[in-house]
Amino acid sequence: MHADIDRVLITTEEIQAKVHELSQQIRRDYAKTNGELLLVGVLKGCVMFIVDLARAIDLPLALDFIAISSYGKSTESTGIVRLIKDLETDIGGRHVLIVEDIIDSGLTLAYLRSHLVRRNPASLRICALLNKPERRTADVAVDYQGFDIPNEFVVGYGLDYSERYRNLEYIGVLKPEIYMQHAE
Ligand code: IMP
Ligand code: MG
Repeated sequence: MHADIDRVLITTEEIQAKVHELSQQIRRDYAKTNGELLLVGVLKGCVMFIVDLARAIDLPLALDFIAISSYGKSTESTGIVRLIKDLETDIGGRHVLIVEDIIDSGLTLAYLRSHLVRRNPASLRICALLNKPERRTADVAVDYQGFDIPNEFVVGYGLDYSERYRNLEYIGVLKPEIYMQHAE
């Protein structure tokens, strides 16, 4: 697993420091809101991030998950977004914070935002751990943002290539030969 990584981009210590920082901002902002915060994780890339973040936010909150796909097996966004699993919560009147691993083209979050806003939440914001600013094609505002990263394919801390590497505790750049050999 580690041998497939070209270099470590963000260490586990750096991730934890950032999660803490984001959780403090979120706690400050939502402490005065009326009604409980609902964290909506975008499966599956969000899992490590959302559990660490949720534990660090010292406020009552609820969790729900949604699964959408824009990737398939490749490393390039297809632009086609598909809803695979919907929320269980009625978000009408709720304060919703979408928790996503990475924003790349922005197509996934643009779709998700327009999809969820129709259900009339009291508020709807976005938290993304990673951001690839170079790749943005859809205009989406990220309210809580972790790290800006270069336009390279990264894995670890929830992020995968073909379902692997999610359990790496750091975020690393995958060696291009790993996905080149599977390219169709
Ligand atoms: P977007 O729709 O192009 O913004 O793509 C966002 C989704 O693509 C993320 O939720 C990830 O699942 C996936 N993704 C984008 N870049 C990477 C990467 O570098 N590594 C792993 N997954 C990525
Ligand atoms: Mg994702």
